[in-house]
Amino acid sequence: MRTPAARAAALRRSEIRVLFDAAARIGGDVIRLEVGEPSFTTPAHVIDAAARAAHDGHTGYGPNGGLVSLRELLADKLRRVNGIEASVDEIVVTPGGMNALYSVYLALLEPGDEVLLPTPGFPNMDETVALLGGRPVFYRLDAVDGFLPDIDALEALVTERTKILFVNTPANPTGAVYPAPLMRELVDFAARHDLWLLCDEVYDEMILSDGCTHTAAAPLDSDGRVITVCSFSKVYAMTGWRVGYAAAPASLADLLRKLQEPLVSCPSTISQKAAEAALTGPRAPYERMLAAYRSRRETALDVAASTGVRAVASDGTLYMLLDVSASGLDDFDFAMRLLESHSVSVAPGSVFGPAGRGWARISLAAEEEVIAEGLRRLAKALHEHGGER
Ligand SMILES: Cc1ncc(COP(=O)(O)O)c(C=O)c1O
Repeated sequence: MRTPAARAAALRRSEIRVLFDAAARIGGDVIRLEVGEPSFTTPAHVIDAAARAAHDGHTGYGPNGGLVSLRELLADKLRRVNGIEASVDEIVVTPGGMNALYSVYLALLEPGDEVLLPTPGFPNMDETVALLGGRPVFYRLDAVDGFLPDIDALEALVTERTKILFVNTPANPTGAVYPAPLMRELVDFAARHDLWLLCDEVYDEMILSDGCTHTAAAPLDSDGRVITVCSFSKVYAMTGWRVGYAAAPASLADLLRKLQEPLVSCPSTISQKAAEAALTGPRAPYERMLAAYRSRRETALDVAASTGVRAVASDGTLYMLLDVSASGLDDFDFAMRLLESHSVSVAPGSVFGPAGRGWARISLAAEEEVIAEGLRRLAKALHEHGGER
């Protein structure tokens, strides 16, 4: 029968994309705060290094699991930033963090296996798990708890089919950075129930609050159950180059490498050379980007406070959650009205799972004055739609 596979047809399209397309259709001077990528272009030294690499002949296929030269640099980066000791054989380079996550689920899930996923959380996760025959099981993150997971709540969700705990710190969309004691509890929880712990650290170097530090899960792991996924996309402003990587126990890393052959063959060689330049080149461009995100966060918090919008002070990432429940509208309807009547586009919270309802996510990937104006209009829209501010 010439019909597509049911699992493919069942895949839902993200509502961020719906907003994205609607904003693009309206065009003109829509204030775009829904986007999940840096506003900066890739630093020039990285682009130059990629061009040089292409001219020097780095244009062919590479090893399934990434260039050894890049993996050596990644071993240093993982030690320095994440405190993870990983050998070159325990690191697998992939086309973006998304492919690393997909490959891990592909390597681990049997049909019907359950994966514990945060809500609000990165929306692609439940779709990926479902696509691969797994069952997403959401654990709630609440504003009153600083959007940090509650171990007792996690305990209540474990069944004999639970296989993976997915954790994301610094977290999209909440901006929460999980403290070290909590990370230890999460690793202990995974050990107690013999689960894999998949730790998404793609925002690892995007810490916005002074005194806040990123804690990786892998250094707390004593029996090879933690898999770490990182990416060049956000931290290095390289979303389009598609370079991410996983650090996993050697036998799983072998499996991930093997899976790359039918999935993608290998990551782009030129992009990997660019990633090497990002790791070895000057740090100043990244420090400037981080300083800009920090300053935009302060502006956003100031405008939110002065206009009576409840905002969550993100400790990390490039996002901020705003409470739009006072509008009295469903968050998706509010986002559409905000776009249509005030030309501001935001990501409706419900795209981040059931606990995202009533929230909107803005990204700090716009100039300060643009974010400020977007927030002022959002406050106005909240007011108009019945909000008691
Ligand atoms: C939490 C999280 N993980 C992974 C990714 C995937 O990023 P990429 O595939 O560009 O590395 C994203 C992208 O938005 C994200 O927010």
